Amino acid sequence: MPDPDTATPWPYPRWIAHRGAGRLAPENTLAAFRAGAALGWRAFECDVKLSADGVPFLLHDDTLERTTDAAGSAGDLNWGELSRLDAGSWHSRVHAGEPPPSLDAVAAFCLRNGHLLNLELKPVPGEEERTGQVVAKTVRQRWGEAVRDGLSVWPLLSSFEPRTLAAAHEAVPELPRALLLDALTPDCFDIAERLDCVAVVLEESLVTEDLVRTLHHDGLRVLAYTVNDASRAELLLDLGLDGLITDAVDRFVPGI
Ligand code: G3P
Ligand code: MG
Repeated sequence: MPDPDTATPWPYPRWIAHRGAGRLAPENTLAAFRAGAALGWRAFECDVKLSADGVPFLLHDDTLERTTDAAGSAGDLNWGELSRLDAGSWHSRVHAGEPPPSLDAVAAFCLRNGHLLNLELKPVPGEEERTGQVVAKTVRQRWGEAVRDGLSVWPLLSSFEPRTLAAAHEAVPELPRALLLDALTPDCFDIAERLDCVAVVLEESLVTEDLVRTLHHDGLRVLAYTVNDASRAELLLDLGLDGLITDAVDRFVPGI
């Protein structure tokens, strides 16, 4: 469990739906958020990047092929073009025509419904700094009033890319940040500390009891992705993990 003397206050639920509950409906679309919300999920992870004209929108890959009806680099199109894409047909006919959402649209949906967000900043190559700056400023603008009024909490900004987190930190220092790690390196936790992160989000097989104890002792919250196995989830919760990011939104009950 986190050391009560050093732990950052933690307003987020333990269970977080991955890619906006993106198995039941096309990942990173509002249809996915709605599917998760209908099953009682309150917190969502999603992937955000910038259009060519600097509009933050949701998409996982660098390129458009897998999850839209277009091809090529996602960062080459302006938002006007991206917003007309079909990001649903690849998943199922019932979702044909579902567009990729802007971060503005996701903010409206989450603020209206009391949902909390873990925004993974996934810059297209070459846009590492600009993505951190623009997303942080958009979050401040869209969530600021609700946070000040005590009606919501800031999204947790996470990224595998330290340059993106550094740019977000510089642009809007008060937003909570987390370093994503798919491998442990000798300096990875020093990087998290330098970026003034409140948490690390670890690929789930990296999590051990000793590591959780050490990180909690150092005042960092610990989350894991992508946890889809029930016995592994139980073990991770027993270790005191602060958040589990999962695709299995129809098997797990989100609870607290
Ligand atoms: O944010 C956790 C997880 O989403 C990172 O991996 O590839 O699913 O974005 P990925
Ligand atoms: Mg992600």
